[in-house]
Amino acid sequence: MTILVTGGAGFIGSNFILDWFAHGTEPIVNLDKLSYAGNPENLRPLKDSPSYELVHGDVGNRKLVRSLLDKHAPRAIVHFAAESHVDRSIHGPDEFIQTNILGTFSLLEEARDWLEKNAHRRDGFRFVHISTDEVFGSLAPSAPRFTESTPYAPNSPYAASKASADHLVRSYHHTYGLPTLTVNCSNNYGPYQFPEKLIPLMILNAIANKPLPIYGEGSNVRDWLYVLDHCSAIRQVLSQGRIGETYNVGGHNQKTNLEVVNAICALLDEARPHNRIRHSTLITFVKDRPGHDKRYAMDFSKIAIQLGWAPSETFDSGLRKTVAWYLDNPEWAVRVTSGTYRQWIDKNYGNRGQA
Ligand code: NAD
Ligand code: DAU
Repeated sequence: MTILVTGGAGFIGSNFILDWFAHGTEPIVNLDKLSYAGNPENLRPLKDSPSYELVHGDVGNRKLVRSLLDKHAPRAIVHFAAESHVDRSIHGPDEFIQTNILGTFSLLEEARDWLEKNAHRRDGFRFVHISTDEVFGSLAPSAPRFTESTPYAPNSPYAASKASADHLVRSYHHTYGLPTLTVNCSNNYGPYQFPEKLIPLMILNAIANKPLPIYGEGSNVRDWLYVLDHCSAIRQVLSQGRIGETYNVGGHNQKTNLEVVNAICALLDEARPHNRIRHSTLITFVKDRPGHDKRYAMDFSKIAIQLGWAPSETFDSGLRKTVAWYLDNPEWAVRVTSGTYRQWIDKNYGNRGQA
């Protein structure tokens, strides 16, 4: 039976879909708006697959979502679609409210309506919502890690929009019995991440011998999760998670931003010994992000104990793979950051699918 994925042309969604087909054959329909962050080329290996279809459209387009549910009768929705970058949300929160809150609301409404009309589908159906650790706010340096019962305290417009979506998802389970599950995860990294986020930005700048801008003193801590470990957690939650529950997912890798950037520089020193400078000399400390959360860290014992999930990559092994991927795929970065890529999207996708 089909899975409806939203936002599957983005970083985590692309990895999820590629990984899905590496583990099985159940068809996927991918509903994606192809915003600046959505890149259908990530899914080129599936171009001729009869089991994969990209639909270019907005999760907020209720008529389109309804038609997809009617046509494909999916057994699950895995909802990744979102505006995902904190800095962009600080500069302009509008789209975050539109997609992350109202888009999620539309999807929930259509899923609820469709299940009411197709009651025989309800038993096996799952709505898996992908959320973030940022909804929990900021941890003091020695505070215990976030658990599923940590109170919500979002600090950026992005985090607030995701928190709103999480609350809507929760309410649709409690009020309407929609079979929902929520995954709150920490910072992902790996192949296909848009180079606005810390790790790909630093790798690509360093390769180009450009400055590596670290906000503040670089002492903020994130809990780094290799993207394919996140994908395996989502598959586990989809197949075995308890309806109505939320699951924290983390990498057990708390690092300061400065540690992360130094680790990238060391890997690049090793991979590019011919470079005329040591990469860490490119580090530049710049003005801090407004409202910058000090520390995130996930206690993922619930998913570990209940569903038997654990990350398989260490930070060292995951970062090595990530650096190697960006070194091996220079044209990918050039295309996603240049006009060429947008022209290609317009030519190949135009406004198709926007019912
Ligand atoms: P991304 O920005 O790389 O990709 C987002 C995708 O959603 C893109 O393909 C984009 O085109 C699509 N999209 C945006 N608005 C849409 C709309 N209105 N309708 C349909 N598609 C739309 O994001 P990502 O890093 O892959 O994150 C995926 C999800 O995981 C998000 O919900 C994000 O909040 C969550 N998350 C991300 C991280 C992380 O570290 N990247 C960590 C925790 C949670
Ligand atoms: O924690 C999960 C979240 O991780 C996700 O929900 C978000 O979608 C995702 O974007 C990410 O948010 P962050 O703000 O933590 O990620 P970002 O890569 O933007 O920044 C990571 C840290 O690095 C953060 O402390 C800010 C810092 N930073 C970031 C950039 C882009 C810098 O110091 N310099 C930079 O240029």
